[in-house]
Order: sequence, then C-alpha cells, then structure tokens
Amino acid sequence: MTDSSTEGNETFGDLGRILVIIPTYNEVENIPLITARVRAAVPEAHILVADDNSPDGTGAVADRIAAADPNVQVLHRKGKEGLGAAYLAGFRWGIEHGFDVLVEMDADGSHQPEQLPRLLTGLRHGADLVLGSRWVPGGEVVNWPASRQFISRGGSLYSRTMLKVPIRDVTGGYRAFRKQTLLGLGMSEVASQGYCFQVDLAWRAVRAGFTVVEVPITFVERELGASKMSRNILVEALVRVSAWGVNYRLGRVPAPVAEPEPAPSPEARSARG
Ligand code: GDD
Ligand code: MN
Repeated sequence: MTDSSTEGNETFGDLGRILVIIPTYNEVENIPLITARVRAAVPEAHILVADDNSPDGTGAVADRIAAADPNVQVLHRKGKEGLGAAYLAGFRWGIEHGFDVLVEMDADGSHQPEQLPRLLTGLRHGADLVLGSRWVPGGEVVNWPASRQFISRGGSLYSRTMLKVPIRDVTGGYRAFRKQTLLGLGMSEVASQGYCFQVDLAWRAVRAGFTVVEVPITFVERELGASKMSRNILVEALVRVSAWGVNYRLGRVPAPVAEPEPAPSPEARSARG
C-alpha cells in the first residue's frame, strides 16, 4: 500500500526554501529509509533530524547520512523531552537558517514522503498551514489496530468539540507550515510536550486567523521500531485539551501573540553572503 512513485515531477521553488523536520527517538532502522525517501520525493527539500539523544544510536547514524548529503542536518538534543519540544527547537533552527516552509514528518514511514507534494501544493494554493488528514474523504489508515483508530478518532472528536476547531484530524503530525504561520501563532508560548502539541498548534493557527487546509493522506503504520505513544502522553493531552476548552468558554484564552522573526544564525548569514 506504500506509494512507490512521487506524485508528478513538480518542483516547489516558488514556495522558497523547504525544511522537513523529522523528530527521532530510537528510530535507528527507520532513519536511513525515511531520509532517502524524502530526498527522492522532493529533491530540493532539506532535512533536519531532531534527535533526543536516542539510546539506540539514531543520532550517530543520522550524522553519517548528513556527512554524505549537504541537504541533511542533525540537531542533537540532550535527552528525551517530547515531540513538541523537539519540533519547537527544529522550527526555530529552520527559521534562523533561512527556511520559508517547515514540514513536520514522523520518522517511521507513517507519513509517506511521496505524498509531500500534496501538502506543498496546498501551500501553493494559498493555505498558511496544510494538515495531512486521515479523517477526511480520501484519507485513510493502513494497519492500525481498532484500539488505536478509536483513540485517534476520539481524540480528534473531543478536541474539535472542546475547542470548536473545524478540523477533522487535529492530532495528526504530517503538516506543512509557512514560516509566517509559526511566527504568527506564537510558538514561544507553546508548553505542550507530547502529541497534544499538534492540537495546540492547529488551534492556535485557527485562532490567529490563518487559513488551515486539510488534504487527505494514507497513514501507514510503522513496520520497524516501536511507537512512543504512552499513557502519560494521553493523560497530558486529555488534561490540557479539557483545560483549554473550559478556559476558552470562560473567555480566558488570550489570542496568540505573534513574534518577530529571529535574527539569522551566523552560519545562515555567511551562507547568504
Ligand atoms: N525527538 C523526539 N523526542 N522525537 C520523538 C519523541 C521525543 O520525545 N517522541 C516521539 N518522537 C518521534 C518518533 O521517533 C517518531 O519519529 C515521531 O515522533 C512519531 O512518534 P510515534 O511514536 O511513531 O507516534 P505514533 O505513530 O504513535 O503517533 C502518530 O499519531 C499521533 C496522533 O495522531 C504520529 O503521527 C503523531 O505525530 C501523532 O500526533
Ligand atoms: Mn508512528
């Protein structure tokens, strides 16, 4: 069921510089496969692996890939701090290094790089944030147990109802942001660590008035390695979404505060002359 061909041979230079951020924790078998697929699917895109000092040596394998490919870089973080923290660090790195489009993608192949052109096409058609969606017509999940489908659909339904966000798949993690969207939704204010980070960002983008579009994806459950989903991650999501929903109804959720663009890093400055 995996797409083997990229959808068309389009290029996306009109969108500016594209960075695909791949957070990793113990993905040593997956990281060579996913980086190769991204490079083949959208050759002009760059990749940033955001590794939380994985005990299985993912960081060292990523370093070897980066040494052989100037489009791949690795952000080494000190320890496991959650998906949200890894993405925030990756977004900041990307913006400081002059990227215009920041993509979120899992390392395990669930988010097929061959479908990345769909997300980028959504940006081209005027979206500020494109969400790869399992729960819109044309979207699907392959090889997920019923229990996991129930959690995901239930999580989206609960979030959609509590937060009044008109999004079918609000917890998904295959996304393309324009740089201005991340700055405008107030990324510095985000405290979510686990998977509720995804709900937090989507809701902020809607509240900040950005155009958020869902495009269907086929999510393929991983074949290698293990999911990091845990009871703690579920509890964090439930507690935070419930609290956000209550505060929102009481008018106690402030509008996201846009932040200024960070100064370019010294390397980015010298690279551009
Ligand atoms: N750096 C870092 N730190 N990476 C992490 C951490 C962490 O603490 N926790 C997870 N990751 C990475 C994994 O290595 C993988 O690349 C990606 O984040 C997703 O983790 P999985 O463990 O494969 O997630 P999943 O398949 O159970 O969950 C999927 O569904 C969620 C709910 O819809 C993902 O698509 C999530 O993004 C999504 O929120
Ligand atoms: Mn996964």
